Amino acid sequence: MGWREWQDRDASFVKRRYDSIAGLITFFEWLLFMPRGFRAKAAAAMDLKAGQCALEIGCGTGRNLPYLRESLGERGRVYGVDLSEGMLERARALCRKREWRNVELVTGDATQYEAPEKLDAILFGLSYNTMPNHQQALANAWEQLRPGGALVVMDAKQPPGLLGRLVMPFSVWLMKQTLLGNPYIRPWEHVAALDPDLRMEEFLGGSYYICRATKPLSRPVPRLVPASAANQEIDALICTAARF
Ligand SMILES: C[S@@+](CC[C@H](N)C(=O)[O-])C[C@H]1O[C@@H](n2cnc3c(N)ncnc32)[C@H](O)[C@@H]1O
Repeated sequence: MGWREWQDRDASFVKRRYDSIAGLITFFEWLLFMPRGFRAKAAAAMDLKAGQCALEIGCGTGRNLPYLRESLGERGRVYGVDLSEGMLERARALCRKREWRNVELVTGDATQYEAPEKLDAILFGLSYNTMPNHQQALANAWEQLRPGGALVVMDAKQPPGLLGRLVMPFSVWLMKQTLLGNPYIRPWEHVAALDPDLRMEEFLGGSYYICRATKPLSRPVPRLVPASAANQEIDALICTAARF
């Protein structure tokens, strides 16, 4: 296979890969120039309120959990799902160390995950392009979100122009050897298909982004008509019907 081609690995391959690199996540953040404050900004884009509930899909070692936990507070609920037990062990250790009682972590595939309640917000934290069936995971996540809730994707991407073309061969090679993030997909376009008013912010010359979709309110807001006017409308309908 040439460097231009990308072959998505299956879930068991992804799981084994992350089990083996779980101890290197902070090193990759440094190696890949992850912008300072990036995680806090992604959590802010979720617009969380104290007492709400949120899910991180592909939560890994739990590097985003402190930001979610801080926004949701003691009464909120934080859920996390990840394929890799090796990654989750570290997230669980973090929860124990911080004595968080309202964080529930599940080992599993994002395409199958069912949250215990409708969610106020969902985050794909540096995980969407590592998922073999990312579109299926996105559809499943959207299903779990309450109307009006936010879905946020934070990730790295190919920067625009010449720089992007120059770094691409190295990115593809590095991703194949390490994090398995497919650099060819454009997740924000998948998210924009769910919400055409997608909000997107770029960082570090377009090398990183945060995008956010809001799930539309599914039911039309009922038209509020004063009782007397409503009765007149009903009378008019009965008269019209009586003429036929
Ligand atoms: C690059 S890590 C990001 C971890 C964490 N969100 C962070 O920001 O540090 C990607 C994570 O996605 C998880 N992952 C990949 N495919 C998955 C799937 N189908 N279901 C659940 N988790 C998945 C991997 O196991 C890995 O922990």
